Amino acid sequence: TALSHIRNFSIVAHIDHGKSTLADRLIQETGTVKERDMQAQMLDSMDIERERGITIKANTVRIDYTALNGESYVLNLIDTPGHVDFAYEVSRSMRAVEGSLLVVDSSQGVEAQTLANVYHALDADHEIVPILNKIDLPASDCMRVAEQIEDVIGIDATEAIQVSAKTGQGIVETLEAIVHKLPAPKGDINAPLKAMLVDSWYDSYLGVIVLVRIIDGKLKKGERVKFMSNGSTHHVDRIGVFRPQMEMIDELGPGEIGFLTASIKQVRDTRVGDTICHDKQTVEALPGFKPAQPVVFCGLFPVDAAQFEDLRDSIDKLALNDASFSYEMETSAALGFGFRCGFLGLLHLEVIRDRIEREYAIDLITTAPSVIYDIHMRDGRIEQLHNPADMPDLTLVDHLEEPRIKATILVPDDYLGDVLKLCQDRRGVQLDLTYAGSRAMVVYDLPLNEVVFDFYDRLKSVTKGYASFDYQMIGYQQDNLVKMSILVNDEPVDALSTMVHRDRADARGRAMVEKLKDLIPRHMFKIPIQAAIGGKVIARETLSAMRKDVTAKCYGGDATRKKKLLEKQKAGKKKMRQFGKVDIPQEAFISALKMD
Ligand code: GTP
Repeated sequence: TALSHIRNFSIVAHIDHGKSTLADRLIQETGTVKERDMQAQMLDSMDIERERGITIKANTVRIDYTALNGESYVLNLIDTPGHVDFAYEVSRSMRAVEGSLLVVDSSQGVEAQTLANVYHALDADHEIVPILNKIDLPASDCMRVAEQIEDVIGIDATEAIQVSAKTGQGIVETLEAIVHKLPAPKGDINAPLKAMLVDSWYDSYLGVIVLVRIIDGKLKKGERVKFMSNGSTHHVDRIGVFRPQMEMIDELGPGEIGFLTASIKQVRDTRVGDTICHDKQTVEALPGFKPAQPVVFCGLFPVDAAQFEDLRDSIDKLALNDASFSYEMETSAALGFGFRCGFLGLLHLEVIRDRIEREYAIDLITTAPSVIYDIHMRDGRIEQLHNPADMPDLTLVDHLEEPRIKATILVPDDYLGDVLKLCQDRRGVQLDLTYAGSRAMVVYDLPLNEVVFDFYDRLKSVTKGYASFDYQMIGYQQDNLVKMSILVNDEPVDALSTMVHRDRADARGRAMVEKLKDLIPRHMFKIPIQAAIGGKVIARETLSAMRKDVTAKCYGGDATRKKKLLEKQKAGKKKMRQFGKVDIPQEAFISALKMD
C-alpha cells in the first residue's frame, strides 16, 4: 500500500471509557469481521482481561476502509495496555504509530490514566483526535468534558467527535477523522530494512509471534533478520497481518504494521522497542530502547509442598509468554521451596498469581511484595536487595536507598483532604496541587514501597472509587530504612519480614502483631507474636491457648452443623502452613501487611 493511504493509530483512554467497544465498532463498521463472527470485545483476548475489564497485552488489527471520497485506505490500530504497570509498553507502541484517538467518557471526564497516556502520545508527536464517547447516556455532558480536555490536557477539543460506541453513532465521522486528520507514515522503501519490534507473545502453534512496524525498506518471507539489541539472527518463516484473525502475506513495506514468526522459542529472546534489520546489515538503532525492568518482587510458594514441581512448570510456561516477569528459585526456612518473582507492578503480580492459581490449580502463599533497595555497603559496593530476608549484617551496611515515584492523582474536591492525608501518611512529599473544575489534580513524590502494597486499594476506598491514579519512577533516595522481622512462637518467619521506615516501624510492628493475633488460629499452647528490629522487640502480642473444642458451641445437638463446621475447619487447614509448631493460614501473609 502506498504510504499516503496508510494510517496508523492507537486509542488512548482511561479504563472503562470504551476503548475496546470503540475498536470493535470500527472493525464492525468496515466489515473487517462478519457480523456473526463478532465476539463481544474482540481485542481483549485473555479471559482474565475480560473478567477484570483491563487490556493487558498490546494487540493490533488491520482495517480496510473506503472513505467517503472514494479512496481506499489501510488503517492499522494498535491496542495499548491501559494500566500504569505497563507504561513502558504503552510508550513503545505509541512510537509505532502517528496518531491517537483520545477517548473520554462524556459522562465522566478526564482521568489520571487518560493524562498519562496522552502524554505518551504527545511525546511520540502524535496528532490527536478527541472522541467524546457514551453520548447515549443521560449523564453525558459533551460541553463540560470538551472544556476539561482543553483545560487539563491543553489540546483543542472544539472538533471533538461525539460518539456512542454502543449505538454506533459517530463511527463514520471517526473513520473519516482518522483518514483526514492523522498524518500518513513516512518511510523509504529503497533504504535498508529498519523495523521496530512493537510487541511479542507466545502462540502454541506458531511459537513466538513478533509484531513489527516497518520504518524503512521491505521485509520479505524467507529473509534472515537480526535483532540489534542482542545480535541474534533469525530466518523469517511467516509474515502476516491481523484482521483481527491472522492472514499470511509475503511482504511488508514502509509504514506497515504486521507480524513475523521465525522459530523463536521464547518471548524473552525478543525485546519490545528493539530494532530489526537484515542480518548482514546494520542500521541506526531506534532511540529509547530499554528492556522492561521488574520493580516489585515477592515470593510464591505452594501451600502444599508436593506441588513445587507443578509450580515450577506453571511459572516456566507463563514466562514463555511474558518477558517482563522474572523468577528464580528461593528457599525459605519456613516456606520451603518456591520462587522469588519480579513484576512490573502490583497488577502484574496479581494477574500472574491468579493465573497460576486458576489455570494450574495451585494454592499459593504470596509473601510481602517488596521493591528493590540499593544497599550501599561500608566497603563502597552497591548491592541490590530484592528480598528483605537477604538483608546483610548491619555492621557491613553504610546506608540504604529506596525507589521513589511521582504519583498523579485526580480526585473530586470533596475527597481531597482524605487523599492528602493518605499521601502524607505514606511519607509523601507534595509537588503540585491544581484544579480543573471541581476536580483536583495532586502530584506527590512517594516512596514506591509505601505504594506497592495497598495504596491503590486505600485510595479507592477513601475516595469511594472516584480517584484515578498513575505513577512513574523517578529514582533512588536515601532514607532511614530498617528490616522488621516477625517472630511467631519465638521463631522468625522470614516470609513476613519487611523493610520499613524507622519512624514508622513501631506503629507498623504493632499493627502487624495485632493483625496476626486475629489471623492465626488458637493452638493448644500460648503463642507469643513479636515484631523486632535487629535483636530488639518493638511490639508483642500473645495468642492465648485454646480451651474448648470448636464444636462445643454447637451444644452437641445438631449433628449436620457440627459436621459442616468440622469440614470447614478441614478445608481451612489445607490453606495453612506449619511454622515450627504453629499453623499460619495462607491469607495471613497478605492480610497482616494491610494498613488501615
Ligand atoms: P479497558 O479494556 O479496561 O481499558 O476498558 P475499555 O476502555 O476498553 O472499555 P470498554 O470498551 O470495555 O467499555 C467499558 C464499558 O462501557 C462496557 O460496559 C461498555 O459496554 C460500555 N460502553 C462503551 N461505550 C459505550 C457507549 O458509547 N455508551 C454506553 N452507554 N456504554 C458504553
